[in-house]
Formats: sequence, C-alpha cells, structure tokens
Amino acid sequence: MTVLRTGVSSRTPLKTRSSASLTSVRPTSPLETPETAGQPSWLNTILKGDCVAALEKLPAKSVDLVFADPPYNLQLGGDLHRPDQSKVDACDDHWDQFASFEAYDAFTRAWLMAVKRVLKKDGSIWVIGSYHNIFRVGAILQDLGFWILNDIVWLKSNPMPNFRGKRFTNAHETMIWAAPSREAKYTFNYDALKTFNDDLQMRSDWQLPLCTGSERLKDEDGQKVHPTQKPESLLYRVLTASSKPGDVVLDPFFGTGTTGAVAKRLGRNFVGVEREEAYIEAARKRIDAIEAGSGASLDMQKGKRAEPRIPFGSLLETGLLAPGTELTCPKGKHQAVVRADGSLISGSHSGSIHKVGALVQGAEACNGWTFWHINDNGARNPVDDLRKLLRSRLAE
Ligand SMILES: C[S@@+](CC[C@H](N)C(=O)[O-])C[C@H]1O[C@@H](n2cnc3c(N)ncnc32)[C@H](O)[C@@H]1O
Repeated sequence: MTVLRTGVSSRTPLKTRSSASLTSVRPTSPLETPETAGQPSWLNTILKGDCVAALEKLPAKSVDLVFADPPYNLQLGGDLHRPDQSKVDACDDHWDQFASFEAYDAFTRAWLMAVKRVLKKDGSIWVIGSYHNIFRVGAILQDLGFWILNDIVWLKSNPMPNFRGKRFTNAHETMIWAAPSREAKYTFNYDALKTFNDDLQMRSDWQLPLCTGSERLKDEDGQKVHPTQKPESLLYRVLTASSKPGDVVLDPFFGTGTTGAVAKRLGRNFVGVEREEAYIEAARKRIDAIEAGSGASLDMQKGKRAEPRIPFGSLLETGLLAPGTELTCPKGKHQAVVRADGSLISGSHSGSIHKVGALVQGAEACNGWTFWHINDNGARNPVDDLRKLLRSRLAE
C-alpha cells in the first residue's frame, strides 16, 4: 500500500511510499496550521491499495465521517447504444465487476467491517448506490449493527435516458445515512441545513445535476478521467449536514477525490483510499489546486437546541432573581411567587414555572420562560430575558 499526500500547492511533488513508511511522510497537509502540525501522517493523504487492507493502517475510532461510493456491480450485459448508434459511456470497468451476488456481499461486508473499526462511536457513514447494489448494502449495514438514519434520494436533474425504452428512466441514486449504533450521538447540523434551505427543513429528496461541464475531469484526449465522478454539490451537502470543521472524513473508494476536494474547501480533513494509480493522480492534482477553507466563514448556524440548558433555579443561584419575587402572565391576570427552591406558588398551585403556568391557564402545557414576566419599573419582561443574560455571561 502507498501513501500519497496531497499538498496545498500544485507544485507539491507526488510522494509514493511503502506502507512501512506510513508515519514518515513529510506533512504537507493542506489544512496545516501551527495547531495541526502534530497530526497523524495519514491525514489529508490518499492511501493506495485495496481499502480493506489500507484501513488496517488507520487507528481504531479515528474518523468522524465516512462517505463511500463503492462499486455498484452494474452487471451490464454488453454495450449500450444510443438511437444514433453511438456507444453509451457506461461504467464497465473491471473494478465494478463481481462474479456473483455472494461475491459482492462478501466484499461489502469486508469493507463495511473495516470502516466500522475506524469510525468513531458518534460518527456516521453515507453509502451511495443504485438499485443494483443499495438494497444489499442496506441489509449488510443492518446486519453489522449500523443504525440507518435516512435514505436520501439524489434526483438527477439531467439523467441519462433509457435508450432501449424497456424500463423507466433511471433518474436517481440512493444514499443511506447510518450511525455505527442506535445510541450514537452523530453530528446533524439541523439548523445549518435549514438556513441553507431558506429556513425550510431539509428534505430527503435532493435535486442536483450530474457532474458535467468544467467540473468533470478530462484527460489530454478529452475523455472522462473516471466513469462515475460524483458532483461536488452532493458532497457539499453531505459534509455540511453531518460534519464539523476540522473533522476527519474518510472515503474508501476515492476515485477522483470528490470527497477530498469538498472536504478541503469546507475546512475538514480527509483520508482517501483508491486502487487505481490514474485516479489517484487526478485526485491529487485536483485537491492540490483547491484553497483550504478556514476561519469564521466555516462556522455553522446553531439553533436553540445547541444552547446550554439553563434551569430556572440557576437564576436564583446566581442572584439574577430573588426568592419572593412576584411574577405575572403577560397581561397581568395571573400572579405567582418565586420560592427559594425554584418552584412557583400561585393560590393552590405549586410546581415548576411550566407546570404552574399551565395550571393557572387550565392548559395542557406552557412554556414558563415566555409566560411568566417580571415587573420592571412598570414594564413586563419575560423571565426568558434573564436566562439569555445568564447564557451570555456563561459564554464569556
Ligand atoms: C464509484 S467509484 C468512486 C468515484 C468517486 N466518488 C468520484 O467522485 O470520483 C469507485 C472507486 O473505487 C475504486 N475501488 C474499487 N474497489 C476498490 C477497493 N477494493 N479498494 C479501493 N478502491 C477500490 C475504483 O477504482 C473506483 O475509482
């Protein structure tokens, strides 16, 4: 196995080392800063070889996120032609061919087990596939104890037509998103994604174009470098959804390095594995030409759920509220008194701010933070203002 490190400059020489020299590769990490100087030698590199063997070189629980675009086992039965008799450039490469479904399943099980070892317990994995393989991959993921979180449908806005006219146009691929266990506290940047999507919850159907135009890598003869290069837009969304700046993203089927390219742009680290030298070379050049994202522009939008929880009692502990203070509802109709233990008393009702707020209104539930107000020189302010004040003090 060989380690190839991609550097920030296209002038960085290609390094080819044996697996024994894994730790001795000079760090020219694209994300290197004084803080990252001591990072492992495999970070921001492409490991050359079979992914199951290559992943043995990585420490257990060392990656935060996996994006895997494995061979689809397309089972193409001969050449496919357009109505004008031109040949369709389908993926018929040797790396996509397996003798049987059993052979494909054994391969899938092996690489998923290798990936599970290196994935952190609160990480997550994405696997992209088509109807040829994704159901098999899904079953094996579950057999290995992964917990499926979503299946995302990538709707191709410009799919290839069904030239034979014998089936529906195959206009989507499926991505399974899974955690290593049901208990995993995986990253999901819910608020960032909602903001990204014009304040609408991000759905599981993503309409994105195929990788075409200048994004598609071509060789000197104008031929595609890789038959299945994925669009960067797809990876942009995957990484924005499920990783944080500085995270380590593993792609065990690196191809032309789409995952590494987007990871670098978004200030994430990557590690890729790829068997074919020509793809590694293309990926390295591509990633070297990208400027690494850094700084505050990578900060992610956070919502209320990300804020530290402040119990009502903390307002008393910190002196922001005194026992005996009278609280009222927004219109002053209901009153309650704050007790030293953080409970409220209002007539025959006592309990938390939420419980007493609900009881005085005869309601099922109440948000006591916004219901109860303090009289401040004639103005009524919600106790939530004190919680915000305490939060900002704690953040200092
Ligand atoms: C579907 S392609 C990935 C394309 C990639 N996502 C991109 O955007 O360029 C799968 C890649 O996995 C590589 N591959 C296949 N079997 C492999 C194995 N056992 N270990 C490592 N790489 C492998 C192939 O050479 C191919 O480049």
